[in-house]
Amino acid sequence: MSNKFSTFICQNCGSETSQYFGRCLNCNEWNTIVEEKKSQISKSSNIKKNKKSKLFNEISSEKISRFTSGFKEFDRVLGGGIVPGSVVLLGGEPGIGKSTIVLQTAGKISLKEKVLYITAEESLEQVKIRWERLNQHCIDLKIYAETNLSLILEEIKKVKPSFAIIDSIQAIHNEDMESSPGSVSQVRNCSSDLQNLAKENNIALLIIGHVTKDGALAGPKTLEHLVDVVINFEGDKISSHRLLRSVKNRFGSTFEIGIFEMLEKGLSEIKNPSSIFTNKENISGVTTTITTEGSRPFAVDIQALVNKTFYSNPRRTTTGISINRLHQILAVIEKHLGIKLSQYDCYVATGGGFEINDPSSDLGVAVSILSSLKNIPPLENCSFIGELGLSGQVRQSNNLRPKIEEAVRLGINNILVPKSKYDLHNDFENIIKIKEISNISEAVDYALIQNYKKN
Ligand code: TYD
Ligand code: MG
Repeated sequence: MSNKFSTFICQNCGSETSQYFGRCLNCNEWNTIVEEKKSQISKSSNIKKNKKSKLFNEISSEKISRFTSGFKEFDRVLGGGIVPGSVVLLGGEPGIGKSTIVLQTAGKISLKEKVLYITAEESLEQVKIRWERLNQHCIDLKIYAETNLSLILEEIKKVKPSFAIIDSIQAIHNEDMESSPGSVSQVRNCSSDLQNLAKENNIALLIIGHVTKDGALAGPKTLEHLVDVVINFEGDKISSHRLLRSVKNRFGSTFEIGIFEMLEKGLSEIKNPSSIFTNKENISGVTTTITTEGSRPFAVDIQALVNKTFYSNPRRTTTGISINRLHQILAVIEKHLGIKLSQYDCYVATGGGFEINDPSSDLGVAVSILSSLKNIPPLENCSFIGELGLSGQVRQSNNLRPKIEEAVRLGINNILVPKSKYDLHNDFENIIKIKEISNISEAVDYALIQNYKKN
């Protein structure tokens, strides 16, 4: 039964209640509420008394110089490298490669800085076996296998590294607390103690966290607002591609991504992402769009398959774009091109299942759908950029110029873009054929050659 030292915490969303429920009132998950004992440790002894306010103009930012993670892709996601004293949370599913990327990073950083890698899940020998696979060099790299928080804190104080890694936060525990390792209150308590130590000693800290089934970090929301940077490591086990995606970053932009490939000898950076998400085939149902994720434009294929349905409700599925966007695009096609799609199933997938958040991929999706429906390949070697408005117009796109430059770099001959106030034709004359369009029917006329409205 509950008492005044108990609290009930949902292990899925982290919300607290004072009594047990079979279903969480916040996230509606079943059987996720667990009784946890409140921490009885007094924190007041930790308060530092000698801090004063400072005149803003006297504070210099020069003191902060980031150090590189050794991977350009990782540095970009971090906003230009690791900030000393910052706390980074790296989340991802088990087996995706978190321990591998941090061990590689630890080795690279240790060539210039002091690094402490704390492994709570594997033994020293297991880490060594992994290290031997990676075929790398290290200098000032120390490994410490421990799960007890107070011993870990002691070791960090003793070693005084510039960069420390906790692999993983769910595997360590504070013995003063009764709840089990990995529970929300353990995760919260351990990370806040680690974070305090890191900030006091100007140590950059990277904490690994496993994700739960719905993609949230376990002990989740509470950790996310504690730390400075939250990065997700994504990918599926079948393909070897892995993405680092920044979700929160106090020192840089979010939505930056870094792309890697998992090889026999660890993770290797992919410097030309366009090459892995496109096929350059001219077949019906496939178009190429140039998307911007973070600061970098690159090409991704969009494939559509449109079939007569056998169901009373036609099937609509997507991989890599949101299902709501597909519904919206289908509605625009129905309304503004007068094509009845209610008798057709429609499947849309991006190249490599790459998740596109840039709305300027709409035009590519629409043309792919129509190209599959009519079984006509789109204009050869052509890229499509433009967000579809609900009234069928093609809306302005962000970063149009870098996108066109990427298309030029890839040797694309034609590009359909929204009407722009800039003089694009002069700038790209004789390099690429730019067709400015203002609505979906112009795009279809141009890229699928036939006039669908007549059919
Ligand atoms: P790991 O880093 O242990 O995952 P996590 O820490 O996120 O749980 O990665 C494990 C997977 O990576 C495993 O399936 C084997 C694979 N792998 C390689 O393909 N190449 C390598 O060089 C290494 C070290 C692992
Ligand atoms: Mg691991």
